[in-house]
Amino acid sequence: MYPVWTPALAARLHAPGTATRVPRMNSVLSGAKRARSFLRDRRNQLRGELKVSYGKAQRLGRIIRSSSGGSLSETLAAIGRKTSRHEDIFAPRYGLRTLDDPDEGSLSGPGSTVERTEAIRETLPKLLKELDCQVFIDAPCGDLKWMQHVELPVERYIGVDVIGELIESNQKQFANEQRSFLHLDLVQQALPKADLVLNRDMLIHLSFEDIAKFVALLKQSGCRYLLTSHFPDQTDNSDIRTGDWRPVNLEIAPFHFPAPSQILDERYTQNKQHSDKCLALWEIAKLPDFDPTAT
Ligand SMILES: C[S@@+](CC[C@H](N)C(=O)[O-])C[C@H]1O[C@@H](n2cnc3c(N)ncnc32)[C@H](O)[C@@H]1O
Repeated sequence: MYPVWTPALAARLHAPGTATRVPRMNSVLSGAKRARSFLRDRRNQLRGELKVSYGKAQRLGRIIRSSSGGSLSETLAAIGRKTSRHEDIFAPRYGLRTLDDPDEGSLSGPGSTVERTEAIRETLPKLLKELDCQVFIDAPCGDLKWMQHVELPVERYIGVDVIGELIESNQKQFANEQRSFLHLDLVQQALPKADLVLNRDMLIHLSFEDIAKFVALLKQSGCRYLLTSHFPDQTDNSDIRTGDWRPVNLEIAPFHFPAPSQILDERYTQNKQHSDKCLALWEIAKLPDFDPTAT
């Protein structure tokens, strides 16, 4: 037997501060049309609160209906924390549990060690000085294995990554007056304003569509310069599913960025095929709007 929809029941469900039990929502939902619209409202509210897409809000709605225990808002909040698409993709690879011995190598992959970043650890501070960079965003920052050793001539360093547990751990280990950290999904959320955004080894993992979303958000952010991984000798770009890997040449289709104003050579020697790997500098305002489907 399902509870009959009555104004009293409606008042109880809508009462502010009421911990609406999910099992009760379950039975009401199955039995009453108006309960369905109530849930739809809550789903839309959740959509706004968590800034998730309509499709994801619908998926969350299904999870809520099949889960038991906990107030609706607690369930939503718990689910919301786990469901950034990119966090789900990248946490198993670059999160805290990816190395047996965290002192060995870097959680952020073999390209993120102190040894492999020798060249850019030297040239990056010079570039920041030359550009008179005060606010420097490192997005994504990974585990800071190499960046922690760079003397940064800036007022503020903001490290950003999509993996929440990594950001918490960075905050505990490395936050100080100069350094702070933000948990953001760079293809869904805008960055704060900065003079320069370093985006090392991220676009190589993103689909064309996600790269386009990242660049569009960057252009809205008011940040001045982008310094990002680039493979200028690559003769074509292939699309991938976000999470896979391939080199990207940002000067050719589908991106068609102009020639970069500066190049920091990574002096990458591990694989001859990718010895052109570098960090390239662009003024963000000059980046084109590109069509990720045009090849
Ligand atoms: C190969 S690591 C590079 C980290 C760092 N830039 C470095 O040079 O050591 C790639 C990082 O990109 C992060 N990432 C992937 N997609 C992201 C997104 N949408 N928003 C923020 N970070 C993202 C991953 O969590 C991972 O930490």
